[in-house]
Amino acid sequence: MSKPENISIKNQNFFAWRYEEQTKIKHLVLKNYFKVWVSKLGSKNNTLFFDCHGGCGVYIDNKENLSFGSSILAEQTAQAVNSKRESKNAVIVCEVKKEYFNNLKEVVKFALPESKFNFINEDFNKVVINTKINSWYTKYPTLFFVDPFGFDLKIANLKNLLNSFGNELIINYMYDYINRFIELPDLENTISDYYGCTTWKNALNLSRKEREEFLVKLYKTQIKEYTKARYVFAYRLCYPDKDRTYYYLFHATNKIEGISIMKSCFANINNGRIEYLGKRSDEYTFFDLDPFIVGEVESFLLNKFKSISISFDEIIEAIIEDTAYLEPQLRQTIRSMEKTQKIKIDRVDSKNYGIKGKDIITFGS
Ligand SMILES: C[S@@+](CC[C@H](N)C(=O)[O-])C[C@H]1O[C@@H](n2cnc3c(N)ncnc32)[C@H](O)[C@@H]1O
Repeated sequence: MSKPENISIKNQNFFAWRYEEQTKIKHLVLKNYFKVWVSKLGSKNNTLFFDCHGGCGVYIDNKENLSFGSSILAEQTAQAVNSKRESKNAVIVCEVKKEYFNNLKEVVKFALPESKFNFINEDFNKVVINTKINSWYTKYPTLFFVDPFGFDLKIANLKNLLNSFGNELIINYMYDYINRFIELPDLENTISDYYGCTTWKNALNLSRKEREEFLVKLYKTQIKEYTKARYVFAYRLCYPDKDRTYYYLFHATNKIEGISIMKSCFANINNGRIEYLGKRSDEYTFFDLDPFIVGEVESFLLNKFKSISISFDEIIEAIIEDTAYLEPQLRQTIRSMEKTQKIKIDRVDSKNYGIKGKDIITFGS
């Protein structure tokens, strides 16, 4: 990724980066999800936001408006949520580059003068395995935000991050960047460290689309393998003006509730979709996710409606606000569950094989 331009800000002793559309979406997703996460996890505990790649701290748009980066955004969100209760949130932020590190400190002083950030001017790969830091993120529920410019990340260092109660990970998987450099022989070891294996080499002979599918699946498998997360989901973000993937946001959690809420957050921001298609957002009707979605919806339904008889309308009503699952997905999953006899359907409104309205679905125990 090319180095961002440092744009001076009038009357301030810090600079900003240009606010790209995809960064806005990333920040919106982070903010909305963190708000829910901190509300829930912080109800009985203090929490931690671990910003593994801090950046310069602030962005500027074409109208000269300033927007804060990930660590400030998260802390502001936490302060709003915690304003009426005892819980506190702390921020650890790593930034390896001195110039950005110093700038970030200035921006935090400006935006949140009272707050206590733990600033670390060090490579995240080293920080995360430090025993003292480890003692913090094993003691307090922690949301890790892993947001490198490229693939300067060793997946092995993510190994113990989710071992503790409430910990979750959001990772920016810079697919377009990786794809551009993946064939350079000098980067072989770096890329193997990034994936935690050498299987990525099998992607080199694949076509563009197949390669992307393969590498996204591989990264998902590897995140699961290394972090032992029960649920990992990838959200695709395209360039605003090109029919091409820019990056994916991976979310890793041990809670189905977490994955479901994150989907809801993402879909709310992206017209009900769980991918950001840039300017083409209105062209697509959706929904062509890969087959594992059915399994995921199925576990959600079985978990939520265990031993219950409920109409299709009531299911929609009960979950539509809290999840990103859409009606066609639910219908497809319920049909598949009927075929495998995990549920029974008494058709009231629909005929032979349809599913709608007052049809009653009975879930097993
Ligand atoms: C995409 S920016 C982060 C943006 C920030 N998370 C935000 O949303 O505002 C990536 C930052 O990670 C820093 N970085 C790159 N490699 C790093 C490493 N190994 N450890 C810590 N920081 C790193 C870069 O200098 C850059 O400032």
